[in-house]
Amino acid sequence: MIGRIITTLLICSIVAKAGTQDRLFTNVYNRESVSLDGYWNYIVDPYENGYYNYRYEAFDQQEHPWASAFFLNSKPKDKSDLIEYDFDKMDSLQVPGDWNSQKEKLFYYEGTVWYKKSFEYNKAQGNNRVFLYFGASNYKTEVYFNGHKLGTHIGGFTPFQYEVTTHLRPQENHLIVKVDNKRLKEGVPTLNTDWWNYGGITREVKLIETPATLIANYNIQLSKSDSSLIEGSVELNGNKRAGKNVTLSIPELKIKKTLTTTAAGTCVFELAANNVAYWSPDSPKLYHVELSTKEERLVDSIGFRTIETAGPEILLNGQAVFLKGISIHEESPINGGRANSLEDAQQLLGYAKSLGCNFVRLAHYPHNEYMVRVADRLGLMVWEEIPVYWTIDWDNSETYQNAQKQLSEVISRDINRASVIIWSMANETPTSDSRNIFLNKLAAFTKSKDASRLISAALEQKDYKEDPFTRTISDPFADIVDILSFNQYIGWYDGTIEKCRKIKWHITQDKPVIISEFGAGAKDGLHGAKDERWTEEYQEYLYEETLKMLDQIDQLSGVSPWLLVDFKSPRRVLPEIQDNYNRKGLISEKGDRKKAFYILKNYYENKD
Ligand code: GCU
Repeated sequence: MIGRIITTLLICSIVAKAGTQDRLFTNVYNRESVSLDGYWNYIVDPYENGYYNYRYEAFDQQEHPWASAFFLNSKPKDKSDLIEYDFDKMDSLQVPGDWNSQKEKLFYYEGTVWYKKSFEYNKAQGNNRVFLYFGASNYKTEVYFNGHKLGTHIGGFTPFQYEVTTHLRPQENHLIVKVDNKRLKEGVPTLNTDWWNYGGITREVKLIETPATLIANYNIQLSKSDSSLIEGSVELNGNKRAGKNVTLSIPELKIKKTLTTTAAGTCVFELAANNVAYWSPDSPKLYHVELSTKEERLVDSIGFRTIETAGPEILLNGQAVFLKGISIHEESPINGGRANSLEDAQQLLGYAKSLGCNFVRLAHYPHNEYMVRVADRLGLMVWEEIPVYWTIDWDNSETYQNAQKQLSEVISRDINRASVIIWSMANETPTSDSRNIFLNKLAAFTKSKDASRLISAALEQKDYKEDPFTRTISDPFADIVDILSFNQYIGWYDGTIEKCRKIKWHITQDKPVIISEFGAGAKDGLHGAKDERWTEEYQEYLYEETLKMLDQIDQLSGVSPWLLVDFKSPRRVLPEIQDNYNRKGLISEKGDRKKAFYILKNYYENKD
């Protein structure tokens, strides 16, 4: 930098933004909001009788829907009137929360549940706008507000929002939400998974009031080409977004710059930044960042770091790093069911820190935003993925659009999270021409939306030249990813644990390798010989032998064993051992650490 004349380049150009009606703005975490969490009345509707008439025609496609349409929240006009439902006399469900873990009768339920919340709302300012925000809802969600259909969201793990400004009234607002968690062949995920299909409004619901023209989205990070520069973009939303002044300030870096937006309401900037303290697991430095216009002040906490690969190494801030990871499902270690709270995130990621991790694989779908914000603060690097899992309907264009939209929504939500270093496209998907085309398109889309992070996918290994003891990765997608990741279960699904000692690896790619899964089931408290399946000793022995086997891989740059905590799955029905739990956790669902936990902890302590 010495001697260099750095000018602050304020290039305001048209930054094309492919907005969708579902994603209007991000950083909900730091916006003023009114929570709609709490108890909502609900109606279980397996025949979707509140949605279709007896000719199976959707009420919300009709000019004058029958009063029996649940989204009208109809009440009898007189004592002879026929209305066959009444939300206000129904039981209630806690929102956020899945219905399976709240109601015994809904434990296995897959179908439609209608939710209803009534509330009053007085806008703070006359010309402000009001939006309805959902953190997530699984799987197909149709939202009706005061009788108007706001929209439909597909996908169970990403946020969505709708503007309600014109429909809002001071009293008696009726928000009615139809949630259908039926699994579908064309879905993302598809019919077949190894996790519980938790249905419902599983994350927070908020009302967010903003100025008429708001700071909608922004991306602020170290320049990929010159880490002494901070670059990014800001996007306003609203009628007066053009030619508007937006001030970006990062006080600790003595940055305060006013930008002026283009006709499209966007701005791109590149600012000199001296003496930036980089974010890292050892020093998870977050800077206070402010974006303000005349009407609004939005804050965030952002870490600055670089992530790239060089041959078989992963470089964080230019230094080679080994990813000491663990895979995690989004289940609450506190209440069971879908995790969704700050406390859930603190407990799960606290477990990971106690294991000596610097990395977590958030499997197999985007987790709630608390997970990545707590990872930012704790110094845990993050792998995020979408549920393109196993046998997806590769030839279905709507399935592709669904996958791409879910990826777009999580990238938009987490674009400013330093902890997120990897976007994963898929898990254990069978190779085929249509699958390769599908994944290659997803990879290209991801790079176009966020060139700053690495891409990967959990691939599978196979015999090399028919030799059952030499394994290789022969998957075309291995040439596309930045990090070559694969799952392997030698000693659990593939032979005995002793087989680990016979295995050789034939991996030719000059890329970092992550073992995205290995593991064994163990019932906590069950003890016996180390060759006795389901004992803690078996799991412990598998970890010992597997880690030795994997250390033979020259390009090994990380592992994220399967997994942190036992989790619910309808596939796991062995009485007295599984009882609907997948037992590969290093910690039981009751919080008890198994013996293998300490094998992995010790491995990480001795891994530089
Ligand atoms: C697979 C899959 C996981 C599954 C695990 C298991 O690798 O990716 O979702 O739970 O194996 O069989 O336990």
